[in-house]
Amino acid sequence: VPSVHLLGVLGFPVGHSRSPAMMRAAFAELGLDDWRYFKLPVPPERFAETVRALPGSGYRGANVTIPHKVAAHDLADERSDAAEAIGAANTLVFEGGKVVADNTDAPGLIDSLPRSPQGQTALVLGAGGAGRAAVWALREAGADVAVWNRTADKARELADEMGVRHGLAPAEIVVNATSVGLTEGTLPLEGLEPAIVVDLVYAAEPTAVERWGAEHGAEVVRGLEILVRQGARSLERWTGRTAPVDAMRAAAV
Ligand code: ATR
Repeated sequence: VPSVHLLGVLGFPVGHSRSPAMMRAAFAELGLDDWRYFKLPVPPERFAETVRALPGSGYRGANVTIPHKVAAHDLADERSDAAEAIGAANTLVFEGGKVVADNTDAPGLIDSLPRSPQGQTALVLGAGGAGRAAVWALREAGADVAVWNRTADKARELADEMGVRHGLAPAEIVVNATSVGLTEGTLPLEGLEPAIVVDLVYAAEPTAVERWGAEHGAEVVRGLEILVRQGARSLERWTGRTAPVDAMRAAAV
């Protein structure tokens, strides 16, 4: 009996996710004919029971998106260092009867940079879930990290927890980890003069932060690239194959 390996993205809503197109392009490129990837819209009150049921239904793992990333961390039997430190998971792996939580948003951010952030100064704007992942990833990669948040107390708490600085100061790498771009609002970008600007917000058109970076001569890393890179890391975790990043990027647009 041929076995089919199932994967999916758990979110609510999940209708606009680009992950199925991206993952199916990767399966095609790699000749993984017996792998499938589906949208799994699951409301929060059904999340835990759904995850528990997936392995018995042929699922090998799942991506996790808004609003389930913290719940995915909480319900896991085992966690990667990244998932543990960040307190959230975007990737679940079902193996050996266990639910293992990982966070590929963090290495995905580092993979998307044009060069290593080792020894560089980095400023993360935002101390919510995305900010936690960015601060941890950059610190692990050897950057000298500061975090700023509109509500200053949250930045101070996160900085204390992760052993980084807080406050607004010019940096070589500036990361927008706020929801500005998805939502209305402005950020205190004046005078930052970064060499690299990263926007974690994924939008089809360039965001205000991305346009600001380009106008100020920075190299701009778009939310799309981080989406592709976190997906590539997740795919590698599930299949053990090297992700075809170019095919995934072409399919994600
Ligand atoms: P996510 O998981 O995407 O990080 P979150 O945890 O809800 O979402 O965090 C949203 C982030 O965007 C927070 O850092 C928030 O700042 P506050 O802590 O001050 O609320 C930030 N944010 C949202 N709207 C903003 C705005 N108009 N200006 C600046 N920061 C904003």
